[in-house]
Amino acid sequence: MKRRRFSGLLALGAGAMSMRTMAAGEEIEEDAEQAVVEDSGVRAVCVKDYTELARETLPQATYDYITTGSEDEVTLRENVEAFRRIRLLPPLLEGVSRSDLTTTVLGEEIALPILLAPVAGLRMFHPEGALAAARAAAAAKTVVAVSTSAGSSVEEVAAAAAGPKWFQLYCPKDRAVTRRLVERVSDAGYSAIVVTVDLGERKDADRRNRFSVPKEMLLKHLVDVGHTQLHGKMTYQQLLDFNDQAWDLSLSWEFFDWLRSITDLPILLKGVLRPDDALRAVSIGLDGMVVSNHGGRRLDGVPSSIEVLPKIVEVVGDRAEVLLDGGVRRGADVFKALALGARAVLIGRPYAWALAADGQRGVRNVLRLLEEELENAMISSGCRNLDAVQPGLLQAGGSL
Ligand SMILES: Cc1cc2nc3c(=O)[nH]c(=O)nc-3n(C[C@H](O)[C@H](O)[C@H](O)COP(=O)(O)O)c2cc1C
Repeated sequence: MKRRRFSGLLALGAGAMSMRTMAAGEEIEEDAEQAVVEDSGVRAVCVKDYTELARETLPQATYDYITTGSEDEVTLRENVEAFRRIRLLPPLLEGVSRSDLTTTVLGEEIALPILLAPVAGLRMFHPEGALAAARAAAAAKTVVAVSTSAGSSVEEVAAAAAGPKWFQLYCPKDRAVTRRLVERVSDAGYSAIVVTVDLGERKDADRRNRFSVPKEMLLKHLVDVGHTQLHGKMTYQQLLDFNDQAWDLSLSWEFFDWLRSITDLPILLKGVLRPDDALRAVSIGLDGMVVSNHGGRRLDGVPSSIEVLPKIVEVVGDRAEVLLDGGVRRGADVFKALALGARAVLIGRPYAWALAADGQRGVRNVLRLLEEELENAMISSGCRNLDAVQPGLLQAGGSL
């Protein structure tokens, strides 16, 4: 299908019916439908539409697992609202009608600065789970960061899609298992390891719903990680008990010395909110970091990631790549994060909702919609490429 350009969006804005006024199920002109929804079976024109579709599709407890945040959800809300407080201030008449969205992350070329964040339990949202997500990322020519807890083994995901893949590591306590897992990641062709260090989810909704992973999925997950001694004859309680003690929840900086000693893959730290931690990551030679509060799913009350981004970019400079996730719901949010110095952003919930609603096609479409919105923001701001996306295009330089 032909890639739409700004002229297409202009034509829609000038003549065809407004997508904003289109109700679900309403008949629309074929051209308009093709332009916005392309080959998607569902009529989603923005991330929010996928939120609603996922709500209709999923059991409530699963929808809540994806959507809610920790405790009072202060951080969850702030992730989204902080983006809204930043205003775009585009210059006029810059003579730009096309923008190039290509970039690199850790030296890898991608078609757009939007990656899929590591998300656990994808197979609970759609039977194809991580395989569908990886295929959609490959089709969009971007990176999928595959969670340790995604629900499929590293080899299964690698076999499903040849596109660029990073592996997000939760560290098993048994270092022999961790070492073997890291070797398998490397052998399967993943090009970086993302170590997530903000741990400890405490979500009221999940506790209220008594949300838990089905036995079969828990067993597969633990075996996939490398606990090959586990088997289907074990009771659910035995597996839960095993899982409770299987993970290293007391990591410290020394862990990275060990990890560095067992792999040559680039290493990123995910969960950075403080400039001093960012500096420490640089000083021990990490290749990149994700400014992240885990989408407001960990410690509630920490600031939004976009709010802390500028200071982290300032201290890191060009010594490591700084990415951001949390609250990205529009292409303009991507624009703001890039203007404030992020190399690229990752999305979590937006693609989890889209996966639930429409599988691989949904994930592909959500990436396409964000890409179009970003391109629109860039063209409107006179940016021919991502290097041109600078703080001067935001009101007051984007200061919050
Ligand atoms: C359902 C769900 C599961 C997640 N599981 C993981 C995980 O296994 N590992 C991880 O590092 N982050 C995980 N995250 C956090 C995401 O990687 C990312 O930081 C966050 O979703 C970004 O915020 P957003 O949802 O507003 O885009 C998860 C997020 C969601 C929504």
